[in-house]
Amino acid sequence: KLNGAKIIDLPKNLDRRGNLSVIEELKNIPFKIKRAYWIYDVPGGEVRGGHAYKRNQEFIVALSGSFDVILDNGKERQIFSLNRSYYGLYVPKGIWRQMQNFSTNSLALILASIRFDVADYVYDYELFKQMANEKNEHL
Ligand code: TYD
Repeated sequence: KLNGAKIIDLPKNLDRRGNLSVIEELKNIPFKIKRAYWIYDVPGGEVRGGHAYKRNQEFIVALSGSFDVILDNGKERQIFSLNRSYYGLYVPKGIWRQMQNFSTNSLALILASIRFDVADYVYDYELFKQMANEKNEHL
């Protein structure tokens, strides 16, 4: 569904000392990692995101706590609840995404496929829908 957006399970190395999970580019996630950023200390009720990327692909992991990611391809909408550090959400390019319901002390790690580029953002939902539908027509 949703242009290939999906939950990806990560390797879990469990032993009596605790747990270790890992992400390798092109192995656990389908892109090369150009950038990592994280979102933390989000006040209760705040919403992050609310935009799409033209080219950037992302992989989002709840390293701590929980939050919801709402994805929208201009036609369908799906909510993914992230609350474990041994899986994450792959978000292809060209998808509207919003993050909300952050729990206290939650920590979102985001791996991105391109360097930060303001020109890659689409902030206008109507423009996004237009772009998404044009793309679908050309497929
Ligand atoms: P923004 O993309 O608006 O965050 P969100 O997706 O949660 O809405 O980014 C917030 C601010 O941080 C904005 O001023 C741009 C800056 N920023 C960077 O400088 N580099 C980055 O890699 C990212 C993701 C954001």
